[in-house]
Amino acid sequence: MKISLERCPTGIPGFDELCDGGLIRDRSVLIAGPSGSGKTIFGMQFLINGIEMYGEPGIFIATEERPQHLREHFSVFGWDLEKFEDENMLAIIDATSTKIGLPSDEKYIDVRPFDTRSLIDQIITIQDEINARRAVLDSTTSIGFALQDPSKFRVELLKISTTLEVLGLTSILTSEVVDSGAISRFGVENFVTEGTIVLYYTRSENVRIRSLEIYKLRGTNHSRKIHPYDITDEGIIVHSKEEIYTEV
Ligand SMILES: Nc1ncnc2c1ncn2[C@@H]1O[C@H](COP(=O)(O)OP(=O)(O)O)[C@@H](O)[C@H]1O
Ligand SMILES: [Mg+2]
Repeated sequence: MKISLERCPTGIPGFDELCDGGLIRDRSVLIAGPSGSGKTIFGMQFLINGIEMYGEPGIFIATEERPQHLREHFSVFGWDLEKFEDENMLAIIDATSTKIGLPSDEKYIDVRPFDTRSLIDQIITIQDEINARRAVLDSTTSIGFALQDPSKFRVELLKISTTLEVLGLTSILTSEVVDSGAISRFGVENFVTEGTIVLYYTRSENVRIRSLEIYKLRGTNHSRKIHPYDITDEGIIVHSKEEIYTEV
């Protein structure tokens, strides 16, 4: 019997048509890209679209930026995070403040030093409250630095991604790479997810070009090409009909 896997559309213009309608429901995917390539925006847009277009609550685990920063930055795109938090459609876990020794008055705070069990407990608590369907862990890279040992990092990431899956969350995990085109920072992140999306941010003469590739996505047909995308006032727009031919 052929089982076709249920989809979770990102709602990001131009993206879902590259992979037969969206990400695979209840699975996790890695988004790898250099700093400034748009990983955090991609992740948040996935959650906001989930809320606005599909009525699906989301969880954002912020290890890189304080939630207050995220609320301020994303208001530029017209995304009112606070409103969604008040409506129990969005929960942001502050895994940043305590890490850098700052107090936090956020509702959901992760302790330091990094501890998978406490993060998972927090996610389970939130799940009881808001019954989320989507999650973003931004980023895996800071967890990798906290744990240092790649084999331990791989096991802990596997615990996190499996928990997200069991809780019925379709998830995006981000990875900040140093070289444009690399698929992970520590060489293990891509093993714990069902797919890898690579964001390129490369120089061509005197401009930088953004492009995206679905490097791997298990269980689905997907584009094998590299497609340009833009970050606009409304977020990411992928030009699915166009391709990048130049060496990236
Ligand atoms: N309103 C906007 N219009 C166009 N580009 C923007 C806008 N806001 C942010 N950006 C671009 O997005 C980049 C940051 O994206 P971000 O998702 O934070 O990257 P990453 O998480 O990969 O480091 C900025 O460097 C900037 O180039
Ligand atoms: Mg980021």
